[in-house]
This record gives sequence, C-alpha cells and structure tokens, in this order.
Amino acid sequence: MKRHSASFVVWWMCLAGLIWLAGACSPPKPEPVKTGTIADGDYDPANWGKLYPLEYDSWLKTKDPKPPKSKYKKGYDTDLVIYDKLSEFPYMALLFNGWGFGVEYNEPRGHYYMLIDQLEIDPSRLKAGGACLTCKTPYAPKLRQEMGVNYFSLPYLEVHSKIPVKFQKMGVTCIDCHDNKTMDNKLSRWTLTNALTAMGKDPKQLTRQEKRSLVCGQCHVTYVVTKDKDMKSTDVFFPWQGSKEGDISVENIIKVLKSDPAYLEWKQNVTGFKLAFIRHPEYEFFSRNSVHWQANVSCADCHMPYIRVGANKISDHDIMSPLKNDLKACQQCHAESPQWLKNQVLAIQDRTLSLMNRAGYAVAVTAKLFEMAHKAQAEGKQIDQPLYDQAKDLYLEAMYRVIYIGAENSIGFHNPTEAGRICGDAIAMAMKSDALLRQALTKAGVEVPANVNLELAKYLNQRGVKPLNFKPEFEFKDPFGIQPMLTPDSSLGK
Ligand code: HEC
Ligand code: HEC
Ligand code: HEC
Ligand code: HEC
Repeated sequence: MKRHSASFVVWWMCLAGLIWLAGACSPPKPEPVKTGTIADGDYDPANWGKLYPLEYDSWLKTKDPKPPKSKYKKGYDTDLVIYDKLSEFPYMALLFNGWGFGVEYNEPRGHYYMLIDQLEIDPSRLKAGGACLTCKTPYAPKLRQEMGVNYFSLPYLEVHSKIPVKFQKMGVTCIDCHDNKTMDNKLSRWTLTNALTAMGKDPKQLTRQEKRSLVCGQCHVTYVVTKDKDMKSTDVFFPWQGSKEGDISVENIIKVLKSDPAYLEWKQNVTGFKLAFIRHPEYEFFSRNSVHWQANVSCADCHMPYIRVGANKISDHDIMSPLKNDLKACQQCHAESPQWLKNQVLAIQDRTLSLMNRAGYAVAVTAKLFEMAHKAQAEGKQIDQPLYDQAKDLYLEAMYRVIYIGAENSIGFHNPTEAGRICGDAIAMAMKSDALLRQALTKAGVEVPANVNLELAKYLNQRGVKPLNFKPEFEFKDPFGIQPMLTPDSSLGK
C-alpha cells in the first residue's frame, strides 16, 4: 500500500511515538543540553548560541540563498535575483499606484534580511516612520516603551539609529520567540497580546501548539498603522476586533478597516479613493478553518521541521518554503512521496493564481472606469449618484479582497478553499461594480469601450528613485490561459 490518508499515518506514527497529533499526543520535544542560563534582556543571539549552538547555526542559515525549487515564491534563491511582485502581478502596479507598495514591492526572502531589506527599499515605503520597525527588530518593544508615541511617528531612520549599532541590521532573533529562562516559546509583541486579548483569548494561557503558530503570528499577520489628522503615525494594531481565534475572517478585517477614517493610510491614484491596507495575513488565513488548522498543525510543523544534526534532533531554525526543503516537513505526517506532495501544492497554487489574476484584473478594469467617471464629472457631466455609490461600495470590498489574497504568502496553499471563496467574491463584486459604472457612464452620455485600456506601462515603469521597470519575464500569467478572454492583451497597455 503506497498511500495512506494523512490522518491514518499520523495516528499510526503517533502510536509509534514518532509524531504527534493534537489531543492524541503532543510532539516529543528535542531536549537541548543546558549548561547555563541567558541573562535577562540579552538580545545577542551569539550569547544564546553558546548554550544552543545547533539552533543558532540553523538560524544563521536564513542568510543563505535557497535552491530554486518553488514555482511562485522565489524570494532569494541561488539565482540571487530579488523578485519584483509588481512585475509578477502587473495589475498590482496599477492598483497600488499612489504609495510605497506601488513603487517597490518584493517577494520576501530569509529572516536574516528583514531589516537590511527595509534599509535598501525605496524610501517611499518607510514614510510611516518608526512604526515600520515593529516587526523587524527585536528592539521594537523596548523602543516603544522608551519613546512612547514618538516611536511610531518619528522618521524611520531616526528611530532606527536608536538601536545599538551592532544590531542595526539584525532581524528576528531568539529573544523575539523564546523565554530566556525556560526556552519555551514566548510572545514579545504588544500588538499580538493586545489583539488576542481583544478576541477574549488570554495571551498568558496558550498551549505549546498554539505558541508554535503564534510566535509567527507576531509578524505574519495584517496590521494597521493609525494616523492622526496630520497623517503622522500614532500606533500599530491588528484589526481582529469582533473576530475569534480560528475565525478571523476577511469580512471582519475589512469591517474594522472601514470603521475609522484614521485607519486609511493611503490614496489610490487611479480612483482618488482613500484606502486602508492589508499585509501578509498568513496567520489569519491559515487559522480560518483550514484543513491543517483543524488537524492542529502549526506553522512550525511545516516551516521548522525536526532535523538531525549529528546525534541531536532539533527544530530547523532555517525557516523557508517547504518546497525548497524537498517537503521534509510534510513527510513528518504524510506518507506520500515528495513529488506527489509538491504536485498537490502546485495544483492548489495554479488554481489560486488563476483566480487571483481574474480578481485583480476585474478590479483594475473597475478602477479605470472610476477614473473615466471622475473625468466625466470634471467635465461637468452628471454621474447618477446612487449607481455610483453602490459601485464604490462593491469596488472597495473587492479591492480589499484582492489586496488580502495578494499579500498572503502561500498562493492559496495555507487554506485553498478559503482562497477560492475570497477570490470568487472579489470577482463577483468587481464585475457588479463594473456593470453599475457602465450604466452610470452611459446614462451620462459617455461611451465606454468594451475593453477598457489599463495603460499598465504607465504604472509599471520608472518607479521610484532607482527607478524600477517592468520585467516581463517575472510575470505570472494565468496557468489555464483564461484571462485573455476577459482582458485581451491589447487592452493591457503594457
Ligand atoms: C521566529 C521564532 C523563533 C526564533 C527567532 C528562534 N526560535 Fe528557537 N524555536 C522556535 C520554535 C517555534 C521552536 C519549537 C518550540 C516547541 O516545539 O515548543 C523552537 C525551539 C527551540 C529550542 C528547543 C529545541 C528545539 O530545537 O526544538 C531551542 C533550544 C531554540 N529554539 C533555540 C533558539 C535560539 C538559540 C535562537 C536564536 C539564535 C532561536 N531559537 C530563535 C521559534 C524560534
Ligand atoms: C519579527 C517578525 C517575524 C517573526 C516573529 C517571524 N517572521 Fe517570518 N518573516 C518576517 C519578515 C519581515 C520576512 C521577510 C524578510 C525579507 O524579505 O527581508 C519573513 C519571511 C518569512 C519567510 C520567507 C523566507 C524566504 O526564504 O523567502 C517564511 C517562510 C517565514 N517568514 C515564516 C515564518 C515562520 C514559520 C515564523 C514562526 C516560526 C516566522 N516567520 C516568524 C517577519 C517575521
Ligand atoms: C501544512 C503546512 C503549512 C503550514 C501549517 C503553514 N505553512 Fe506556510 N507555506 C506552506 C507551503 C507549502 C507554502 C508555499 C511555498 C512555496 O510556494 O514555495 C508556504 C508558504 C509560506 C510563506 C511564503 C514563503 C516564501 O518563500 O516566500 C510564508 C511566509 C509562510 N508560509 C508562513 C506561514 C505561517 C506564518 C504559518 C502559520 C500561520 C504557516 N506558514 C503555516 C506550508 C505551510
Ligand atoms: C503535523 C502533521 C502534518 C504536516 C506537517 C502536514 N500535513 Fe498535510 N495534512 C495533515 C492532516 C491530518 C490532513 C487532513 C487530511 C487527512 O487526514 O488526510 C492533511 C491534509 C493535507 C492535504 C489535503 C487537504 C488540503 O488542504 O488540500 C494536502 C494536499 C496536504 N495535507 C499537503 C501537505 C503538505 C504539502 C505539507 C507540507 C508542506 C503538509 N501537508 C504537512 C497533516 C499534516
């Protein structure tokens, strides 16, 4: 028998004492040999590494480029190329035009680079100020405590310069995820403990398996940088109010984002609308009833598999895409071959990507119709207000869904059916908005072409101070070839 169901295998391996499954048994902990303790407030990973050299060495490896084994998450592979997300998804250049994400937006790479990448990115991305450091430096909690609201609002480089020089390029490290005395996982960010409390979850009463996801949830979540009336940053929080653990829906997130004008961080150039933003919602997306979440699988199970180093077993701290690691993590539970598992991942991702493109282009076309409507208004034409208002509501709902699924980093894998649902809704909403706008424009005597020209070249080229240009070889075209039926190549204006 070649293939068993995963749950059967897990159960069997559990009995054999090799692996765990929630409730049934818990993961056997690699027990490091302890020869001392880490002093309170010691940020230096090298000191932690003296006691835990194997974890330290594997943590250092997030610096190394990875084998090019992923289809969609190339990040920082051995080709040493930095992948431009706006070339991968050209519609994003149009939609995000108006602020930093429309200038430079790259695929993530290893943890080692998180602060370095921030220092190297186009300065337009750092306008929010010190607030941007919240999930980039282990010093964020300390800086916030010492500087109060200035931590959020002062210019990025000014706050950054307050980090001890030796650690000004150091990203997430031991102290972010571990208690120095017990080495248990620990949450170090006020953002997450506040958000959990707001959902009625006591951040002091977390199971070990919950923490194996929530340490990642300190950063791999969406957040809001609140602004005062002068657009100065005042705080960072997670928009989870009204949600529950295991049920943080995109609907609830959008509801919070729309609830206060202080959460609108930027203005979309094409439409002139003020909008909020959604970032890397890995934790929210994965934990919303996905098959693996329901099976009590954690982020660490798939991204920090147990590995052997000599005679020892450790959690691999070289955190990366499971595809670049030949799906070793999956094989802790699945008996299928790495190739079979990879095919499953790619099948899910191809379908999701196709839907993402469908949704992204539908919203982009609608954005261009708003541009036409605004131009008509400026020329003194009357646009039917009720039609316009309804179209705008639907447009915003679709736009937020497109941002959400585009910012989530697994191209659907973390929760495939949820990805389909979110993209499907975005497409339906954008198409309805499109129909209403066409009706309003026609009523106003404006002729609307069947295929609206997206003028993508305008948004894709000459971006920022570098400046950056469209790289056609990066583009993720629809794997099923459907997209040109809806937005013919001649209408893209690339
Ligand atoms: C992004 C979060 C994160 C960072 C950063 C991190 N760890 Fe861990 N570490 C974990 C998780 C998750 C586990 C698994 C804990 C469990 O299973 O209870 C773990 C486990 C461990 C263990 C227990 C033995 C093992 O290998 O499972 C040690 C020791 C350890 N880490 C040391 C370190 C050291 C030293 C550093 C810094 C060089 C570090 N960790 C950085 C998340 C992190
Ligand atoms: C302190 C914030 C923080 C924490 C905690 C954190 N991450 Fe990250 N993670 C980031 C940032 C920022 C990046 C992107 C870095 C870049 O592109 O420079 C990233 C990148 C990644 C990547 C892409 C790596 C690559 O090679 O492309 C993976 C996978 C990942 N994180 C998983 C995890 C997991 C799993 C955990 C928990 C065990 C975790 N992260 C904890 C901030 C964090
Ligand atoms: C069941 C396994 C599984 C679980 C659980 C899981 N992931 Fe993933 N993750 C994947 C796979 C597979 C990919 C797609 C990798 C690719 O396409 O190269 C991925 C992609 C990612 C990426 C992008 C990687 C890159 O190279 O850019 C990040 C970041 C990430 N996951 C973080 C998380 C976080 C945070 C959690 C928990 C909230 C989590 N993952 C839970 C399997 C998992
Ligand atoms: C800790 C155990 C565990 C790990 C690690 C794990 N899985 Fe799973 N996986 C499960 C369980 C349990 C199910 C539920 C279905 C079943 O019983 O077959 C499942 C279901 C699946 C499914 C079918 C459901 C769906 O969402 O499409 C796929 C595909 C899958 N896993 C792929 C992977 C891949 C790829 C990885 C590694 C990146 C991985 N799994 C890692 C336990 C795990």
